[in-house]
Amino acid sequence: MSTTPNYIFNEKTALPGLAGKYGIVTGASKGMGLVMAKLLVECGARVVINGRDSRTVAKVSEDINAVYKNATLPCEANTANLEQVQQLFRKSRDWSGGKIDFLVCNAGYRLDEALWNTPLHKFTDQQIKKGFDKVREVDLDGARFCSREALRTMVEQNSGCIVFISSTPAITGYQGTPYTEAKAAILGLMRDIACEYAPSQIRANALALGNIRSGWYNYLNDNKKKELALESPAQRWGKMREVAGVVAFLVSDLAGFINGQTLIVDGGKVIR
Ligand SMILES: NC(=O)c1ccc[n+]([C@@H]2O[C@H](COP(=O)([O-])OP(=O)(O)OC[C@H]3O[C@@H](n4cnc5c(N)ncnc54)[C@H](OP(=O)(O)O)[C@@H]3O)[C@@H](O)[C@H]2O)c1
Repeated sequence: MSTTPNYIFNEKTALPGLAGKYGIVTGASKGMGLVMAKLLVECGARVVINGRDSRTVAKVSEDINAVYKNATLPCEANTANLEQVQQLFRKSRDWSGGKIDFLVCNAGYRLDEALWNTPLHKFTDQQIKKGFDKVREVDLDGARFCSREALRTMVEQNSGCIVFISSTPAITGYQGTPYTEAKAAILGLMRDIACEYAPSQIRANALALGNIRSGWYNYLNDNKKKELALESPAQRWGKMREVAGVVAFLVSDLAGFINGQTLIVDGGKVIR
């Protein structure tokens, strides 16, 4: 295994106030969550690597720790399961000495063509109940479970930052009603937390992402890849590190007075 850093940006990456901060990135075993976790570590933070598969999170953590000693803790948990979330936070606090400086609610339900591309009136009774539940449980309930646990610690320490990963359909609408609903509800959760906990110096913000080249890109045919690239006036897919950079900024002290905001990271798709 190489112990040479494979930088997300470069060896000079740094953001004020990230060194020594402890936090959790949900869904960090692959895709954007993994790039977020790596960049946060690159900036000096210590990060709990979460995902549902114990072997994957252990391997990811081991690889990062080989370069940045003790910078990560692997912790498997299904964020849609409250007991597992509580266990995740217990382990995180044990590791960090009791503090949680940031939480990134990134875990999301996988792309499901049958759910994403069915107009609402064509949903069967079964789909309209269960289909919506599956997405909501991971994207929304999971974010709410994790936020409550994080807030319990953040209120005590009188500081903290939560970043939620939403999506442009939450703002513009799109085919894929269960996904749109869940991602829009996340913005409501984010705003509630931002208002309620600002006096405790806790900030909550969200990203609304356009088409970002993570794992799902590889499942698309060439025409679809091109079509989705052209949704943005930038005429390309976003890079995972372009999302991670915004997360790191929001967590850092540079963003200390940004609260309750949704930053749209889409190359300009929404304004067109
Ligand atoms: N890529 C895009 O274009 C795009 C656009 C808008 C918004 N987003 C949002 O960005 C986030 C990350 O997307 P991505 O494309 O990087 O996804 P991804 O490559 O599919 O990765 C998802 C991560 O979440 C984990 N995960 C899934 N369900 C989980 C659960 N119940 N509990 C804990 N971990 C769970 C996965 O690991 P395991 O499966 O091993 O648990 C994996 O680490 C998602 O919230 C997604 O909705 C993505």
